[in-house]
Amino acid sequence: MNEHVEIYEVGPRDGLQNEQQEISTIDKVALVDCLSRAGFSRIEVASFVNPKKVPQMADSAAVLAGITRKPGVRYAALTPNMRGYDDALGAKVDEIAVFASASEGFSQANIDASIEESIARFEPILTAARHIDLPVRGYVSCVTDCPYDGPTDPDKVAEVADKLFSMGCYEVSLGDTLGQARPDSIARMLIKVRERMPVTRLAGHYHDTAGRALENIDASLSLGVRVFDAAVGGLGGCPFAPGAAGNVATESVAAHLERLGYATRLDMDVLEQAADMARAMRS
Ligand code: HMG
Ligand code: MG
Repeated sequence: MNEHVEIYEVGPRDGLQNEQQEISTIDKVALVDCLSRAGFSRIEVASFVNPKKVPQMADSAAVLAGITRKPGVRYAALTPNMRGYDDALGAKVDEIAVFASASEGFSQANIDASIEESIARFEPILTAARHIDLPVRGYVSCVTDCPYDGPTDPDKVAEVADKLFSMGCYEVSLGDTLGQARPDSIARMLIKVRERMPVTRLAGHYHDTAGRALENIDASLSLGVRVFDAAVGGLGGCPFAPGAAGNVATESVAAHLERLGYATRLDMDVLEQAADMARAMRS
């Protein structure tokens, strides 16, 4: 049996959040339903944030109400604060994600808080989630480069990742938000993070602005990472990271992993249908 490498599909959230034109709730639901059929076990479908900052995610509750939930699939949403947490629970998510940054500049631009303030905001979310056994994922953005502060210190990434893990995040996803990382900067960062928390609890979340995401995945595989976030059709970017392009395309990562001899457990034909749907939503 080939070793399993999981792709965590983030297209309906990270992919669509940056699209400027209005995408109908029906089209978003159809995309998520197609992704459910493709065989993912975790799909990030929504984001309970300020709709003035990310208008595309304003119908998150309607998307979660409209999808056909496939047994065994966890449908996730971003929750930046307790209000987002309450709204996400109301929409019956299966897991949530809190998102921090390893750089102060991006933290301020993205969530109007310093890194320390953001961690303090997450404490009550983690406590509430623990009481109902709701899985919480943690993100660390700008793990190698920040659009505001320049190169990121790997020790800072390790500190923030370890903090999220020790607060109760079951997995920490390391974001190359800008998509400018290189295999050597990814490796330097991962070596530091691995000293603080188990590599089996890490995921790589690489945007593909510079076209190096697959090389960065290879560097991460060699250091033991076995979960990668990706967006079908290569959709997206981050509204608060100027110049950032979409996440690495799920279908490219899946084909690459299969070529390397890993099992993704995805149906490539259905994935291709989802990629067509996603590309049609692009502005
Ligand atoms: P704030 O300004 O500190 O919050 O925002 P506030 O409490 O002062 O409220 C300001 C306004 O936001 C108020 O509305 C609140 O009602 C509203 P107003 O009175 O102005 O009309 N508000 C909310 N509305 C809906 N849901 C909520 C909520 N909370 C407040 N949960 C906040 C703090 C974080 C909410 C805000 O800055 C925000 O929404 N930021 C958007 C962040 C975001 O979605 N970024 C993109 C996702 S992160 C990402 O893409 C990176 C990632 O992919 C990893 C990687 O690539 O590195 C994860
Ligand atoms: Mg992202």
